[in-house]
Parts: sequence; C-alpha cells; structure tokens
Amino acid sequence: MSIISKDIQKAITLLTNDELVAIPTETVYGLAGNIFSEKAIHKIFATKKRPFFNPLIVHVASVNALKDIVAEIPEKAMLLAEAFWPGSMTLVLKKSSKIPDLITASKDTVAVRVPNHVVTLELLEKLPFPLAAPSANPFGSISPTKPLHVENYFKEHIKMVLDGGNCKNGIESTIIGFENDNPIIYRLGALAVEDIEAVVGKISIKNKEENSPDAPGMLARHYAPTTKTILVTDVAAEVEKNKGKKIGILVFKDSLSNDAVTEIVLSNKGLLEEAAANLYDAMHALDHQNLEVIIAEKLPNYGLGKSMNDRLQRATFSV
Ligand code: TXA
Ligand code: MG
Repeated sequence: MSIISKDIQKAITLLTNDELVAIPTETVYGLAGNIFSEKAIHKIFATKKRPFFNPLIVHVASVNALKDIVAEIPEKAMLLAEAFWPGSMTLVLKKSSKIPDLITASKDTVAVRVPNHVVTLELLEKLPFPLAAPSANPFGSISPTKPLHVENYFKEHIKMVLDGGNCKNGIESTIIGFENDNPIIYRLGALAVEDIEAVVGKISIKNKEENSPDAPGMLARHYAPTTKTILVTDVAAEVEKNKGKKIGILVFKDSLSNDAVTEIVLSNKGLLEEAAANLYDAMHALDHQNLEVIIAEKLPNYGLGKSMNDRLQRATFSV
C-alpha cells in the first residue's frame, strides 16, 4: 500500500506522536519531525543513516517565528529574510537556548528557513512546534523531488509522505551563515548568488570539501547515483570513449540525437530554472535504468547553473 497521502490532519497526528512525515517543500522533500521530540529526532538520523555530527534545518511558518529559534539577528540576516522568505534560503544564526543540541550537533548556531509551499506552510501554522527536516533521502544519495522518490527510499521506514506534488525548484536551499555579521554562502542552492548579492552586496562562497565541513551537504561525495557518473564539457566525445557500454546521458538543452544512448534533456528551451527543477528526477530516472555509465554535461557556470554544477561535481567523477 502506498504511504503517499494528502491528509494534513493525519500528518499532524503522526508528528504530534513523535513519528516522522516526509513533507513537500519548493526545494526538495524533507524528512520531518518535531524539533522538541528526542524520539523523533533520533528517528530522523536513524532513518537517513545520517551521522550525528551533521545538524538539521529547522522549518518555521513565518519570519515572526524566528525570534523563538535564534538568539540574535544581524541586520543583513533580517534584510535577507524579508527579501526571500518564504523561500529557498536557509540562514545559519546564533541559536536560542530553547533549541535542543541534537538538532544543531551541539553547535552554537542553528539553521532555519521558511519553506515556500502552501501545504507545508499550512502544516507548520497548525502545529504547535517547528519541524526539523533534512532532505528525505538516505545519507549521500540523490535528494527527492517527487513523492514517489521518497516512497522508493523509505516505504519500509516511515508511515507517510505528505503529497504536495513535484518540487518547483528541485534543488536544495542556499545556506547562508554569518561571520562578524557579514553573510557567507555555505551551500550553493536554489537561490542564485546574483539574487542574494542584489540584496546584500558582494558575498563570498565557502566551498567546503573537507571532512568536517560547516555544512556536511558539502562533503566531496554526496547527492550521488549508484551508477558510475561522470561530468564533462564534451558529452559526444565521452560517449565515443565509452562505446559498447550501456550509456545514459544528461544534457542541458541540446539533444545528441544518438539512438545508442538513453538521453534526458534538462531544458529544451535552455532555461536554468527548468533544468534545476528536472535535475534530480533525471538522475533518479537514469539511475534506475541499469546503465553502466551516466555522462552528465556541465551547465553554464552562473545563476542556478553554478548550484547544479556544484551538485553534479559531488555526484560524479570529473574527467
Ligand atoms: O532545501 C533544503 O534545505 C532541504 C529542505 C527539506 O528544506 N533541506 C536540506 O536539509 O537540504 P539537509 O539536512 O539535507 O541539508 C542541510 C544542510 C546540511 O549540509 C547541514 O550540515 C547544514 O545544512 N546545516 C545545518 N545546520 C547547520 C549549522 N548550524 N551550521 C552549518 N550548517 C548547518
Ligand atoms: Mg541532504
């Protein structure tokens, strides 16, 4: 029986009883639990097989709820919150003493965002507690952008996926932390760097590669299909090199018109937003085709292309 359901009341009952519910957001589906329930938070880590050193994002219904979560709000954080919430931006701020250490991996900061999805906003407004929600995928694998992706991963482990359709943006939120009250991007994501800079001016990007990163979504290998995947500029040349193998290709806008390969075009119109919305679904689809190799094309390195290249680099072996 399917665990996918639109029943918000059922989600409320489960979450109130320390259970997990996968929730829709505009970025990716999250695996949600009550931030104040130790039992629920332990289940999140166990279900994802996620290491405890990797902190969770707290989801709230509005900017107003921020004051209960964080100890202080730098001026530029407020500007960003007002500009982009509800939306695909997570702020990392000094935590309030009310936030359990389990959520923050004992850091003195907490990650928080207001997601932009009607169903989840309604859920958050009705619940008397915020929701902790990492992406609803096993640690290290591709994030889910459709209810079915979550069901495929977790139908044995959770009772419900709250159906909110396909995720509009399709790539995780952009994470912004603060050093001396100045914003720094910790994780590239669904909000383009250019749009953030339009609000707070030039911003630096800390592209984490080491093993104890500020945002472990930044581990060198993450977001990865199980099929060997490589990232290249010249897809046709790479297909030629892999002749004889069962090949899948993931291209931005131009079809290779090669019947010997399984191909997904991310956006025929060449729109980066559309490509981002399709990226993870395409990776899930190719990964289920019993291919020997997936060859992905590098995207233009600006706007959401930059965020997609970041994810593809972590999912692949560059050649
Ligand atoms: O779009 C998203 O952000 C989705 C949806 C469900 O909201 N969530 C998501 O969560 O991507 P997750 O757990 O897969 O990634 C959250 C990232 C992790 O890399 C984590 O290390 C980082 O946020 N993070 C959480 N708290 C942090 C903190 N206090 N300081 C620095 N990084 C933090
Ligand atoms: Mg994740």
